[in-house]
Amino acid sequence: MRFLLVVLTGCFLLGWTAACSDSHVDETERRVEELLQQMTLAEKIGQMNQVNGRQLDEQMLAELRSGSIGSILNIEEPSLVNEIQRIAVEESRLGIPILVARDVIHGYKTIFPIPLGQAASFNPDLVELGSRIAAKEATEDGIRWTFAPMMDVSRDPRWGRMAESFGEDVWLTQVMSLAMVKGFQGDSLNNPEAMAACAKHFVGYGAAEGGRDYNSTFIPERQMRDVYFPPFQTVIEAGCASVMTSFNDNDGIPSSGNKSLLDGVLREEWGFDGVVVSDWASVHEMVVHGFCEDDKEAARLAVNAGLDMEMESRTYIRYLEELVAEDKVSEAQIDEAVRNVLRMKFRLGLFEDPYLRRYENSSAYAPEHLDAAQEAAEQSMVLLKNDMDLLPFGDNIKRIALIGPLADAPHDQMGTWVFDGEKQHTITPLAAFKQMLPSEFELLYEPGLSYSRDKERNGFSAAVEAVQASDVAVVIVGEEAILSGEAHSLADIDLKGAQSELVAEVSKVGKPVVLVVMAGRPLVIEEEVKLAEAVLYAWHPGTMGGAALVRILTGKVNPSGKLPVSFPRMKGQIPVHYNHNRTGRPARGTEVLLDDIPLEARQSSLGNTSYYLDAGLRPLFAFGYGLSYTKFQYDDLVLGASEIGVSDTLNLSFTLSNTGSRSGWEVVQLYANDPIASVTRPVKELKGFKRVWLEAGSSQRVTMKLPASKLAFWNIDMEHKIEVGAFNIMVGGSSEDGLEGRFWIVEKL
Ligand code: NOJ
Repeated sequence: MRFLLVVLTGCFLLGWTAACSDSHVDETERRVEELLQQMTLAEKIGQMNQVNGRQLDEQMLAELRSGSIGSILNIEEPSLVNEIQRIAVEESRLGIPILVARDVIHGYKTIFPIPLGQAASFNPDLVELGSRIAAKEATEDGIRWTFAPMMDVSRDPRWGRMAESFGEDVWLTQVMSLAMVKGFQGDSLNNPEAMAACAKHFVGYGAAEGGRDYNSTFIPERQMRDVYFPPFQTVIEAGCASVMTSFNDNDGIPSSGNKSLLDGVLREEWGFDGVVVSDWASVHEMVVHGFCEDDKEAARLAVNAGLDMEMESRTYIRYLEELVAEDKVSEAQIDEAVRNVLRMKFRLGLFEDPYLRRYENSSAYAPEHLDAAQEAAEQSMVLLKNDMDLLPFGDNIKRIALIGPLADAPHDQMGTWVFDGEKQHTITPLAAFKQMLPSEFELLYEPGLSYSRDKERNGFSAAVEAVQASDVAVVIVGEEAILSGEAHSLADIDLKGAQSELVAEVSKVGKPVVLVVMAGRPLVIEEEVKLAEAVLYAWHPGTMGGAALVRILTGKVNPSGKLPVSFPRMKGQIPVHYNHNRTGRPARGTEVLLDDIPLEARQSSLGNTSYYLDAGLRPLFAFGYGLSYTKFQYDDLVLGASEIGVSDTLNLSFTLSNTGSRSGWEVVQLYANDPIASVTRPVKELKGFKRVWLEAGSSQRVTMKLPASKLAFWNIDMEHKIEVGAFNIMVGGSSEDGLEGRFWIVEKL
């Protein structure tokens, strides 16, 4: 008998409010149980099966009718989505709607900067708005489940997926992941414009050894809990609807078969009641890992570990019935998984309204969406160098030579993981210059190279001539979208093709050079930075990237992005993250470098500290670094107390002054360090940040709060504790310098 819709409760009519949420929860649970009771074992297993919509054929339609599919990914054609729902709802025995899923990562049609770029904005409100807009555009095409945010802390730029991450810092990743989840899910999943978010990849995937994608990880439990878990725990506590397991094996155990992670940490410790989905074929890949003999064994391990839904590899649908008959998997275990899937479908309101809304006009690329994408791109770009205040362009600049393979690359500037954004909507720097430059300016466009890997130097002489005839050269280099993202790791993260040579040739002309880099990761650019007077890191900035860039170059916008990841001088320095533990022999900053080592120097005469003879210790640009067209000064740090209790919050304030002649945003950053602890601790860790707007010449007393609870860590006894004693703090405009203070945490005041 077809499952009948139950009467709408007051909650559905009134929306999700605190007053009725308990009864709503109970009602959802009641409906889940009622439906579960009616299901055959085969139908239950069907709900645990997610398939690839690209292979939609008669056989798949038959599977829909028989209730053997719970979710489909990769269909985005609205009429097809509705037809699939119609078949599931009207032609299957129980009429259970389908979860339609897709990777909507940094925009659907309107593409925002890659997540790493969004992280550089240090602006969670913009990140939330970006994912809200993505959800609106995607739900109009019937997609109600996205596989985002990716919250893998990533500290190795060789790893192509760093582009999808929020970088190297735990707190920044927590804040930005939460913002994305809020944006996708809104106030209630039940809203037809809300998408279920998916916290991925659980867990530790960003630590792939050597930065090679899919590689093994070796993360010890303490680091796992201090670094890799917190973003997941944060979003789960905030109601993130689903979690995806990661491809990597950590210390020999692939995540999709790791019971202590899924059942233990996710369900028991954190109380997660959403869906755990595998990554693409990661259940089957446990066989390839050599973790089990065959697909049947893989299905047994995954389902018993607590993995509810299998993406694409179909071991569940093939073997779970058999495994239940053989008593290797209990039906109770299957029921648990199915409850989680049904609960998500009820929460999304799919039983009430499985079909997508028909809009007269789609909101894709709506002006307000483009404005938001432009603002996100503006706030994500990081000014790394600005000698002699070359930027913004002054009155002396009338002729601009626009050079480089990324100056007009509408596809590539959208970056990785763009399935639906269309390049004809992209505003490239060339297009933006043409649209936005006042008529007294002249633009000479000579790319020099056709794409980032291009080694053909035929275009160099035209580029050089254009620069000779201009007042300034804007050289836009970087990497094509395909060079970052999943499975696109690099052993060398320098500029590919003949781009370095192009920068060198252009700089020889003697005109000022503005180097703009569009890339999915920090690239090793020390030499190119030396050749340019100004450097702006634009990441892959998305649909509106060109407009954002031109507004920055011409001074309509004062850049305010800060680096979410450290930039190595040389690739051999990787990992070079700022929040590393203190060694027993830290570098002092006075280390002797290669060229200064005397001949036949004695073995220990260089001082025996922790640094590289050729690269030193410091990165080229540190986490949190980023310039502005104005200057900010920090003074007079005052701590609200010298001692606080373990449940208290430290209030602190300082004076921030804009000492330059332009108004602008400063991202103030608060770092803390526990100097003596039962285990060695990071030299500093970001604990808070704030965007502050200051008019030119003005000052403001800025207040920040540091709850003692943020200083807890997993101690020598593997307890999550604040260890009382002294703590150092620093406030400033980057992780490398600022005002310092010290306070004490005591058990009780
Ligand atoms: C594999 C990727 O690792 C994951 O992030 C993505 O969501 C799935 N494929 C689905 O496309």
